[in-house]
Amino acid sequence: MELYDLHCHILPEMDDGSESVEMSVKMLNTLAEQGVRHICFTPHYYTHKESMEDFLERRQSCYEILKPHIPEGIEVCLGAEVYVTDIIMNNKSLKPVCYGNSNYILLEFPYNTSFEGTSYDFLMRLINLYNVRPVMAHIERYDAMIRNPKLLEDLSGYGIKFQTNANSYLERSTFRKFKKLIKYGLIHYIGSDAHNLQRYQPDRYKEAFDLIAKKTSPDVVNGIIHYSKKVFDAATN
Ligand SMILES: [Fe+2]
Repeated sequence: MELYDLHCHILPEMDDGSESVEMSVKMLNTLAEQGVRHICFTPHYYTHKESMEDFLERRQSCYEILKPHIPEGIEVCLGAEVYVTDIIMNNKSLKPVCYGNSNYILLEFPYNTSFEGTSYDFLMRLINLYNVRPVMAHIERYDAMIRNPKLLEDLSGYGIKFQTNANSYLERSTFRKFKKLIKYGLIHYIGSDAHNLQRYQPDRYKEAFDLIAKKTSPDVVNGIIHYSKKVFDAATN
């Protein structure tokens, strides 16, 4: 099983993720040992705190530092976990913070976002104005999404995709919450969202896939790999 990780904080000294090249390499090896061969680096981009230019410059220099140390056999691409605020609309384009060359963009919204009314309209404006394909990061953080498959179905109709964190599947209570969603293909990606080697570590990444296959069906896991491959291929072509 060749796995993809589309959400992690492995770039050294970039955000609240990896603190050093040494830690980054350990995180990459931890993922590789579990069969992860394709990894997208998605550092936090806080749209209200930093200009896109500054963010991109920092990301590039952190990447240059890590690049010679990336273990053989791992393919990587650059992305961002874009925190959505009104200020995002000041940008002419969002393409530079999409996954590589693609127009898929990993978006993070405030915790209690309802995705109704104004937040729903905002998301629609974002898609139309910038021609991007949102990947909603760790949707387990939004009760409104987890409890409402109809909302996910509706948003899927606009090309929006949904990501959850691997660690959420390791807890029975959270798994139960989205068992139906994943079973019916409403969750498209699993990410490690790994930040370090202690608390938000990537060492049980594959275990999540094995659990999903066991508790739903291997087809569900194949679907996740298929969707992830599509993003990675578009990002790196
Ligand atoms: Fe993250």
